[in-house]
Amino acid sequence: MGGMNRTDIPPVLVTGATGRVGRAVIDQLLDAGMPVRALTHRSEAAATLPAKAEVFTGDLTVPESLDPALNGAGAVFLVWTAPPRTAAAVVERLAAHARRVVFLSSPHRTPHPFFQQPNPMAMLHAEIERLIAATGLESTIIRPGMLASNSLAWWAPAIRAGEVVRWPYGAAETAPVDDRDVAAVAARTLRQDGYTGGDYVLTGPESLTQATQVDIIGDALGRRIAFEEMTPDEFRRLSEGTAPSSVVDMLLAAWSAAVGQPAHVTTAAADILGTAPRTFRQWAADHATAFAEGS
Ligand SMILES: NC(=O)c1ccc[n+]([C@@H]2O[C@H](COP(=O)([O-])OP(=O)(O)OC[C@H]3O[C@@H](n4cnc5c(N)ncnc54)[C@H](OP(=O)(O)O)[C@@H]3O)[C@@H](O)[C@H]2O)c1
Repeated sequence: MGGMNRTDIPPVLVTGATGRVGRAVIDQLLDAGMPVRALTHRSEAAATLPAKAEVFTGDLTVPESLDPALNGAGAVFLVWTAPPRTAAAVVERLAAHARRVVFLSSPHRTPHPFFQQPNPMAMLHAEIERLIAATGLESTIIRPGMLASNSLAWWAPAIRAGEVVRWPYGAAETAPVDDRDVAAVAARTLRQDGYTGGDYVLTGPESLTQATQVDIIGDALGRRIAFEEMTPDEFRRLSEGTAPSSVVDMLLAAWSAAVGQPAHVTTAAADILGTAPRTFRQWAADHATAFAEGS
């Protein structure tokens, strides 16, 4: 069937299609020969999506704008990065059209201190999970821990410039999960039966301090990257204007709680995919060019 889209099955609608996880989900579904619809709320983004995906323009903050994309869709990958106000109306519409939803949430139920800090995103995720559970949809919840790709936004600018990486809580341990493994689990649960009611916390295979993660990126580049501890207050100051203060406070509290104890590591990705999830070393090797000077 390689590459041929199957026309006997309804398409999967992927929201967050231009984002990190959504885009990788599209690639995985297309590779498996599934018909794919991709949602963006910026019509100009259509050109960046794979030609084999059918692109729809729709906005999660305008629920009725989703109807063309939902009409005839079998399953929906739901990524919610919009304000919460329209979530109930969107989930209701989704249930009226599709049979299955896979929701990208977070591990807010996991009793590890890293995941138990005050977190407005967690409250939104919990609310959307509640809304989904109240419908008759076949649902699967996917909860990645720290995405490996966060380090691109966090550390790549300093590393590309040949500068010291200055960061708070270098000793905080996380188990970064490769976005491709998160997407592979999402794609599997979207296209195959048997995952209804599934609730999966997805992590990378090992607990690593943030400072060690920077070292591993250095190994991929073949040079040592200097790491310097930054105070939480300095991090707050430097983050002003680039991230909401609630998100910054949430990260600082989570890292602070993660110092001196191993990160939570699960086998869910391996159990579902039948292969070990990629290591951070593998992720760094595959993304080395994004950290290379002059890139
Ligand atoms: N970063 C982490 O470590 C981590 C860990 C666990 C969970 N998560 C969760 O993962 C989710 C983010 O996933 P991601 O990183 O793949 O996303 P992302 O790269 O930040 O992309 C966000 C996506 O949302 C879409 N979007 C934004 N506003 C929209 C709107 N009004 N209507 C429709 N689409 C809209 C954007 O598409 P267009 O602009 O093209 O419309 C874009 O594709 C969040 O819920 C986050 O809490 C993240």
